[in-house]
Amino acid sequence: MNNSKNEQKRNIYPFGNKNHTLNTDAFQIDCQEFSSRNALENAIKQQWNEKGLIVLSNTGMQHLSELQKWAEIIFSDFTTYEGGSAPRSKWSDKVFGIDDTPSHIDMCYHNEACYLPSFPRCFVIGSLVCPAEDGNTLVSDNVATTDAILDTPLGKALKAKGIRYIRNMTDKYTDNAVVYKHWQDTFYTDSRYEAEQYIKSQNWDYEWLPNGTLRTSYCVDAFEFHEQLGKNMYFAGLVSHAAFFDQWHPFNTITDEERPFTMTLGDGSAFSDDDIKQLYAAYNQASFPIVWQQADVAIVDNLRWSHARPAFNLKEGEQRVMGVTMGMMKDRVGSNF
Ligand SMILES: [Fe+2]
Repeated sequence: MNNSKNEQKRNIYPFGNKNHTLNTDAFQIDCQEFSSRNALENAIKQQWNEKGLIVLSNTGMQHLSELQKWAEIIFSDFTTYEGGSAPRSKWSDKVFGIDDTPSHIDMCYHNEACYLPSFPRCFVIGSLVCPAEDGNTLVSDNVATTDAILDTPLGKALKAKGIRYIRNMTDKYTDNAVVYKHWQDTFYTDSRYEAEQYIKSQNWDYEWLPNGTLRTSYCVDAFEFHEQLGKNMYFAGLVSHAAFFDQWHPFNTITDEERPFTMTLGDGSAFSDDDIKQLYAAYNQASFPIVWQQADVAIVDNLRWSHARPAFNLKEGEQRVMGVTMGMMKDRVGSNF
């Protein structure tokens, strides 16, 4: 059966022409070049303060649970992934898998947990097994992105209105053609009352649709103040927009409004195709790919850098096995414009 005629696609490629302007070498540290662990840790801490991004090679990592010890150089408060929108498997009680999104989906630039009331300032991501060529992670300098966005009318609207994050959760006991996550599985209850109690405690808006779907939404600041840089940073990502599903059947057969999640400006007005293009362009102007080698580890300031994962293809026999751990938790304070 060919469903393509029903699919609604924007056909806007998130990653531009792939001419990356930043040099990977400027962020790499080769662990083998250090005579002592202490010297290596000092170099990592220094680069964290100066650049907020470190790509470590030759770590000798044998298991992804070891990401914890690399993370502990920078922080000691680890988060669980409670409240995240995607399911996560675990490598340890602090290290999660990141293979929950199909490889043919472009995950465009975002800041982790930008839609939650608290977020990890730092995450540490590692590659245990990687394909020969494909499967890179992209990172983008969020200072440059923020400046570019604020220069546009869209940036001014984001500053004034914030972003509204919307989720549609289907009813487990209704025969739905397209299912991502049921509200019963989100809130671990079959009781509408209990789900509503949680929603009200979070100050979210909500409505029950005639087919039993629960739609929640809430508005957050599109920017977040970075203490060390003394600067308001764009803190969002179109990965939370319905466009995320454009390549993903059957979600691309339903409207933006019906998709499992989407985002609008705070007043409910939709992002136009031109807005989406502008946001993608802002990310693409100062970026570089982390080309994973076995046992590479990257330490990332989640506010200072955005990250993305383009769609990738595995050749026969190839695997992409990665993990992530997150911490240095911060409550959202928003911007101070
Ligand atoms: Fe992410």
